[in-house]
Amino acid sequence: MTAEELMQKAIEARALSYSPYSLFAVGAALLCRDGTIYLGANVENASYPVSMCAERNALYHAMMEGKKKDDFVALAIVANGEHECSPCGMCRQALSELYPSSAPIYLGNLTGAIKETNTKELLPFAFRKEDLQK
Ligand code: THU
Repeated sequence: MTAEELMQKAIEARALSYSPYSLFAVGAALLCRDGTIYLGANVENASYPVSMCAERNALYHAMMEGKKKDDFVALAIVANGEHECSPCGMCRQALSELYPSSAPIYLGNLTGAIKETNTKELLPFAFRKEDLQK
């Protein structure tokens, strides 16, 4: 599957966004080794911090279906911004632990622009579970 095809799935996911507060709809599509694609969109709440981002929704969606880090092969994230949608800090932390550092992350917008990155670029010097050792 190409980056463009996975981005198209993220655009489909974006249509499911519940974002009445920010009016900023985000979609994500996570491709797994077995060909399954898990979708996610941002889901907001009147109590703002309760909101969930699109990419974490896709990731947790896949994990609740039994998928693990090694199953993930590509992730696309899209919003209707001037530039490719850049993941927030919380999502970078989640992805750095739960998504393979060798797998591509495609950031896009609705003009068709796509930027490829990975967790190492998005969050260098991440806090890791090893850092919890006392
Ligand atoms: N958002 C995402 O879902 N993913 C991103 O990569 C950036 C931000 C959401 C969170 C919130 O619902 C809205 O976009 C505005 O910040």
